[in-house]
Amino acid sequence: MRLFSKETYRLRREQLKKQVKGGQILIFGNNEAPMNYKANTYRFRQDSNFLYYFGINMPGLVGLIDPNGDNDMIFGHELTLDDIIWEGPVEPLSSLAEKVGIQTISPLEKLASFIHPSEVHYLPPYRGEREIFIKETLGIKIPYSTALVKAVVAQRSVKSAEELAEMALAINITREMHLAAMKAVRPGMREYEVVAEILKTVKSHNAELSYPVIFSVNGQTLHNHYHGNLMQAGQLVLNDSGAETDMAYAGDITRTFPVSGRFTSKQKEIYEIVLKMETESIASLRPGVAYRDVHLNANRILLEGLSALGLVSGDPDTLVQEGVGGLFMPHGLGHSLGLDVHDMEDLGEEYVGYREGMERSTQLGLKSLRLAKELETGNVLTVEPGCYFIPELIHKYRSEGRFASYINYARLEEYLDFGGVRIEDNVAITANGFEILGEPIPKTIEDVEKITGQ
Ligand code: GLY
Ligand code: MN
Ligand code: MN
Repeated sequence: MRLFSKETYRLRREQLKKQVKGGQILIFGNNEAPMNYKANTYRFRQDSNFLYYFGINMPGLVGLIDPNGDNDMIFGHELTLDDIIWEGPVEPLSSLAEKVGIQTISPLEKLASFIHPSEVHYLPPYRGEREIFIKETLGIKIPYSTALVKAVVAQRSVKSAEELAEMALAINITREMHLAAMKAVRPGMREYEVVAEILKTVKSHNAELSYPVIFSVNGQTLHNHYHGNLMQAGQLVLNDSGAETDMAYAGDITRTFPVSGRFTSKQKEIYEIVLKMETESIASLRPGVAYRDVHLNANRILLEGLSALGLVSGDPDTLVQEGVGGLFMPHGLGHSLGLDVHDMEDLGEEYVGYREGMERSTQLGLKSLRLAKELETGNVLTVEPGCYFIPELIHKYRSEGRFASYINYARLEEYLDFGGVRIEDNVAITANGFEILGEPIPKTIEDVEKITGQ
């Protein structure tokens, strides 16, 4: 099991103790999750907060951090002989605990007797089973701790150099997945045949998917997990897929490319708009910039581009303010990335992506912006603008007369079979600006066609 140094985990816990006053802190690891019966489980995925503070990628563990003492503990079990017969010998928990700076381990059954149920801090549970464990087994009746949530968010939002290196590794594996897909696509193939190449690539790097593969000629469906379509010349295909390393740091990349290998001129026009949204958004990143403003500026570039194509008209400021961009990009420009692909979404976007006093909009597009607040050095985020032609949405807005004075609905009819374009990269905020993580992945029309057109 790959781990950071003992010091890394010890310092992370020390820093957390300084931020959270009084009361024990409980960090729950995940258990195996049955798929259709107890012994047939989904892939085990450790809880990201547990990985961050205790590192050990094994089911059935709970970490206890005591702000008033120096005796952090892990509760869990050593493997029994029966476990070893079925699952094989693994490094003893005591040895792994030692490697993350924990001297004391104790059976899980003893946890209840170690805690003071009315004074503990814990994070919002996202699995029902954990909630039952907290409430019934441990008898904790108090709600999760917002003080702990805020402290963890502040800490995990700023990535260290060793985390950035691990993320670059995830993104470089992700890059291989994208190159494999670009090289594989041919008219007449089914989408799942290309998905198979993506899966082969991620597995060949001893990595896993950081989220289910989104790969479709119907790129206008934002998270399209259906892979059964026949791919035809003249179509675009959208590939949003990413790897997670064995230390569970994630990559999250999107590329859109032509099935036939060459973009049509109509596709180029839309693609260039999205590329401009992406590159100009990235170029504007630096500490202190509010990501909400970057999102709004990307919308402005989108609307100016669509205006030049005669699809929309009107004063750009008004168009942005009215939320016209939401019709073409009904999602946010990006989100935090780290141990989770939507980093720390279990802790609540109101803490991860927004700050106090920052209202979340109800406008289509802006309401799905997961990261709005001012950026700081060490943040890692995605920049993922898109332009989509969603027939159901366009028809609904047209029938309701929405944006009637801004949208050329008659011309928009010519785009109903277009699909969608999204381009996504992963960026770290540095003291002076930004760094796109990982080796470059083709994204200009020329560079993409060099791969797809072979
Ligand atoms: N891959 C999911 C997303 O981009 O948010
Ligand atoms: Mn993505
Ligand atoms: Mn993303």
